[in-house]
Amino acid sequence: MQALTQTDQLLEEASVFLCDSWGEIVPDTCMICGSGWGPLADDLPDTQSLPYDQIPGMSATTIAGHSGQLHLCKTGDRQTLIFQGRRHFYEGDGWSPIRFPILLAHKLGVRNLLLTNAAGGIRSSFEVGDMMVLSDHLNFMGGNPLIGPLANEDMPRFPDQTEVYDPALRSLLVQSGEANDARIHEGVYVALSGPAFETPAEIRAFGILGADAVGMSTVPEATLGHALGLRVCALSCISNKAAGISPDKLSHHDVEQAAKIALPKMKASVLSFLNKLTG
Ligand code: HPA
Repeated sequence: MQALTQTDQLLEEASVFLCDSWGEIVPDTCMICGSGWGPLADDLPDTQSLPYDQIPGMSATTIAGHSGQLHLCKTGDRQTLIFQGRRHFYEGDGWSPIRFPILLAHKLGVRNLLLTNAAGGIRSSFEVGDMMVLSDHLNFMGGNPLIGPLANEDMPRFPDQTEVYDPALRSLLVQSGEANDARIHEGVYVALSGPAFETPAEIRAFGILGADAVGMSTVPEATLGHALGLRVCALSCISNKAAGISPDKLSHHDVEQAAKIALPKMKASVLSFLNKLTG
């Protein structure tokens, strides 16, 4: 038996607090909203919400467009936990704030994990507003969220990474996008720590290495979720062409604006996906 860590205690306090606030909590799915995806949670039916900073172990978000609310949303007789806003490695607080939502979702019984993000398109055929379902990733973040003691006794010390993204969930995401007339592709995501955007030379190099899109998130949550035994999938909104592919300079504001334009199809695709999931 491992001794109870401070994280274990905070997870226990957070789950007691959420049950006291919301009553019965039996979510089978968890979604993390990345840049541009937050508004998706604004008008979901039958939803209860709490700000992150009221929940033990969770901390407020620091980046524009990441509102920092946890929602419990009912679709039919199923519950989905939605983290509206994520913490990033470049915020400087290490892996704990990135790991905590995944550990909490796992503790609450979640089995399916949907991660979303905004990403720069590297593949030349990608247009702004397209979506990409992650088929695999390259971790260039300079670290791994599994370093340190095991988060629980069942987690492998050396998790296999052959199939981080669940094939059935991937194909359900593609079908859900196509059913809503979205331009949706599958591809490889390369994650860097940021916060600087990449140089054109880096983007050329990542293209040669097999990356189709680039971003600053998702891979840590996918790695941890997969190691905990969750069925993981992830969806990027291509918010810009990566550095050097378009002559335009990059800004977070432009990333947010592009995602706003694509939002109706992103929202419709995710709602179809959540409705088609069978638990
Ligand atoms: N690079 C890194 N992260 C990003 C980008 C990008 O071009 N677009 C959105 N997030």
